[in-house]
Amino acid sequence: MKEKFYITTAIAYTSGKPHIGNTYEAILADSIARFKRFEGYDVFMQTGTDEHGQKIEEKAAAAGKTPKEFVDGVAKEIQSIWDLVGVSYDKFIRTTDEYHEKQVQKIFKKLYEQGDIYKGSYEGWYCTPCESFWTESQLVDGKCPDCGREVKKSQEEAYFFKMSKYADKLMQYYNEHPEFILPVSRKNEMVNNFLKPGLQDLCVSRSSFKWGIPVDFDNKHVVYVWLDALTNYITGIGYDVDGNNDELYNKLWPADVHVIGKDIIRFHTIYWPIFLMALGLPLPKKVYGHGWLLQEGGKMSKSKGNVIYADDLVGFFGKDAVRYYVLTAMPQDNDGLISWESVIETINSDLANVYGNLVSRTIAMSNKYFGGIVENTNVNEPVDEELKAVVTSARDKVKAKMDEYKIADAILEIMNLFRRANKYIDETMPWALAKDAEKQDRLKTVLYNLTESIIIGTSLLKPFLTDTADKVSAMLNVKLREYDQADKFGLIDSVKVTETPEILFARLDSAKVMEKVNAMIEERKEKVEVKKEEKKDQPKTHDHTAKEQIDFEDFAKVELRVALVTACEKVEKSKKLLKLTVKLGEETRTVVSGIAGYYTPEELIGKKLTMVTNLKPAKLCGIVSEGMIVCAEDDNGNIAYLSPEKDVPDGSMVF
Ligand code: MSP
Repeated sequence: MKEKFYITTAIAYTSGKPHIGNTYEAILADSIARFKRFEGYDVFMQTGTDEHGQKIEEKAAAAGKTPKEFVDGVAKEIQSIWDLVGVSYDKFIRTTDEYHEKQVQKIFKKLYEQGDIYKGSYEGWYCTPCESFWTESQLVDGKCPDCGREVKKSQEEAYFFKMSKYADKLMQYYNEHPEFILPVSRKNEMVNNFLKPGLQDLCVSRSSFKWGIPVDFDNKHVVYVWLDALTNYITGIGYDVDGNNDELYNKLWPADVHVIGKDIIRFHTIYWPIFLMALGLPLPKKVYGHGWLLQEGGKMSKSKGNVIYADDLVGFFGKDAVRYYVLTAMPQDNDGLISWESVIETINSDLANVYGNLVSRTIAMSNKYFGGIVENTNVNEPVDEELKAVVTSARDKVKAKMDEYKIADAILEIMNLFRRANKYIDETMPWALAKDAEKQDRLKTVLYNLTESIIIGTSLLKPFLTDTADKVSAMLNVKLREYDQADKFGLIDSVKVTETPEILFARLDSAKVMEKVNAMIEERKEKVEVKKEEKKDQPKTHDHTAKEQIDFEDFAKVELRVALVTACEKVEKSKKLLKLTVKLGEETRTVVSGIAGYYTPEELIGKKLTMVTNLKPAKLCGIVSEGMIVCAEDDNGNIAYLSPEKDVPDGSMVF
């Protein structure tokens, strides 16, 4: 029977579209899962979304949606991005799934009933983005010690988990399982910064917001989002607090590895093991806290329009190139960098020049010299042995790196195989052999050896570059090797390769691609600006509250006049704004008004409207607006402009 391997990713917050950094983690875990399948394990991969909490509640409100509507949208988007980059998950769990919610409630109750959770009151500093309470002494320069952002003073009646009760047991587990935390340096950090100073009891409920799983016996409270989120690893495979576990849970738990980012190692190596101990369950075998993929040249920011998203990268370069870049850009225990330019460079240097070139040259030569037929004529020379040694040892080298979760190094071993094969072409000089009638059999052997090398390297590459591997296999008309044959040279029988090989990775002209990328970034930036300006514009026209009384002098300060619309057009890239040219007697002015949702330009041209003419000019979407059209607005936000009841000359004063 196959040995099981249960691998999970962190579940991503549904607060917004994930950038390439979050997506990296899914690709990383996927490549491990795929390699394990290749090795013959019975792999189960779980990923998903973390959908509760105050931040999400706030984001939903800002988007004018209910939290559930909001998370439904983002969860769908995350899942489609995971699909786009080829994440081969077996389960996509959402923390709003009914089964998960029910189990979290039961877990909370069980822990309460057995005395691990108790009710108390909390006064401290709350960091909303991290959903964490901090004591005064834990703050760093008065800010959140985790993310460095502002914290708010809060007091709450709350439930607490007795963390300290399990601290010794956890330390013992660390000592008995030195492989538990990867990289090892993180273990020392957990021990020295958290365990040794003494674990504080953890606040595991919230009552200051509603969007969470209610504590069913005290529904003023919702379960702390981390207690909710971490349990996904067991609820997703059918854990049941009452003991009616699904077969899947019985087979899979404990997990073989939780793949997570370095920022959430504490949650996974302290809180999570302690929750499991309290539930009487075995602990995961390993927690791998990878580094972060960061943007070269500064932070990604939505307002700068420079956030790098996986779907954009895939649109420009294709799925496998993106997978290759992120996997090779990340050292195991450090951060990695990404920029559009470096992705282009890597595609050109590794995928086009080394791999693509090797495949296309080999196929082209087989076609040119032997009508596409590849067969072994066994005319060997010593240089062949050097090639074979590199090729046949690659599988075990790759496996060794993968066992250590050194993915970039594993891929490097495969690229070394392809580099060696390219060198073999230079050494054997097939074009020279072709000219010599007596060397035809030698030439056949050379091309056979190259084809074998490609197929073995490509079989090893398949967990990382999934589609490319299949394409190469189809072009060579050779099946990819199973794991136990991926270290054996010379298994191909005579084959006929394709006459029309596809270019796997075209060489990219960096300047041309960057022109398009920059245009996309500019367009995004403008969109963000337009949105901001539309927002800025809104309160002025949508304030329906009754105003306090004012003196006539105050009213008289406002200059209102009749304006004739002589021209009108939509403001490009804005859904709400119209640009009007108006005549006020002798004077002509430009006004930008947020009424595009109510009037077409044609409906306004030739009309006389009322306008505030002494407002200070303001820039909207790059256009200077020299006044404001006065409108009536009902409670539903429907808008009507105000026109004089009889015809009066434009420019007439309104009192
Ligand atoms: N919801 C929590 C995880 C709960 S797990 C029970 C969370 N979500 S997250 O959306 O903020 O992050 C999801 C994963 O992406 C985390 O493992 C996080 O470390 C990782 N990354 C976030 N930014 C990243 C990069 N820039 N680079 C690599 N990984 C990144 O944390």
